[in-house]
Amino acid sequence: MTLFDHLKTHTKRVEAFLDAELSTQNLSVPLGAPDRLVNAVRHGALNGGKRLRPFLVQLAADLVGETEGDLVCVGAAVEYVHCYSLVHDDLPDMDDDDLRRGQPTVHVAYDPATAILAGDSLLTHAFGLLADERAHPDAKVRTQLITELVNGAGVGGMAGGQMRDLEGERQGYDPDTISLIHAMKTGALIRASARMGAIMANASDDQLAKLTKFAEAAGRIYQLSDDILDATKSSEELGKTAGKDAAQGKSTLIASHGLDHAKQVLGTELQTALGLLEEFDARADLMRDLVTHFAQREA
Ligand code: IPE
Ligand code: IPE
Ligand code: MG
Ligand code: MG
Ligand code: MG
Repeated sequence: MTLFDHLKTHTKRVEAFLDAELSTQNLSVPLGAPDRLVNAVRHGALNGGKRLRPFLVQLAADLVGETEGDLVCVGAAVEYVHCYSLVHDDLPDMDDDDLRRGQPTVHVAYDPATAILAGDSLLTHAFGLLADERAHPDAKVRTQLITELVNGAGVGGMAGGQMRDLEGERQGYDPDTISLIHAMKTGALIRASARMGAIMANASDDQLAKLTKFAEAAGRIYQLSDDILDATKSSEELGKTAGKDAAQGKSTLIASHGLDHAKQVLGTELQTALGLLEEFDARADLMRDLVTHFAQREA
């Protein structure tokens, strides 16, 4: 089976989980969920994402060993946070985007206030999934997972990276700061995904440290390739508005040093990431393929 066969099978499981979980019935606790908010949440979460973060949770766990918990449930928690970050990222006061995953963004399909609430809801329920005994039978492990997701999503992670990204529209950043933005706005959740998978499989401190370094490189790669795709593909190919970074005056490596340089850095980062997996045996092959895909993807 290729990476894409594994990804396809896994994505189906994640989609089914998200679909079942984000029902009016499940969300009506303790009182009734308003239809408009449920529909907006579903629009933001169930509309064709690649589901790469839950897959990374799975691969990181598989690399380490067996788990007693439900990796799809834990992966879905990361995916909720990721989807919330996209719903908010697209808002008029942030990137002001009207296309996402080939569909109108949540604030276009509904309105900005509803999109804010849909994002808030996804963020909140992510922690509900991690607090659930389905995630892992051991409450101590569940607490560790929650801490990881806090670190990935918080001010020192994704939210802080989004702040720096917006500040960058008014000032050009040097390459190190651009790399820091990548590490925070996108890398922190990718790092959290790998760590959460490893924690689910009871990784040793050494395994966790090694996978963390690898995931940090993978996160930088993911955002750098996102920026390259933004500059080189069409909106149809991406399912989101192409050329948006230049239009918004984002501080990217492409804007400051050109596309060729950005591609060169991406190649170097990929070699770094693969090098960080060298100590792992053939069990890391899918992870090698995944990070290569992060660098070479077409959308
Ligand atoms: C897009 O993420 C935003 C970034 C963090 C680069 P993805 O490329 O994973 O988007 P979906 O979830 O597949 O739509
Ligand atoms: C995405 O950065 C980062 C987060 C959503 C946290 P972008 O703004 O580049 O993502 P896209 O290109 O809109 O998907
Ligand atoms: Mg953005
Ligand atoms: Mg954006
Ligand atoms: Mg982008």
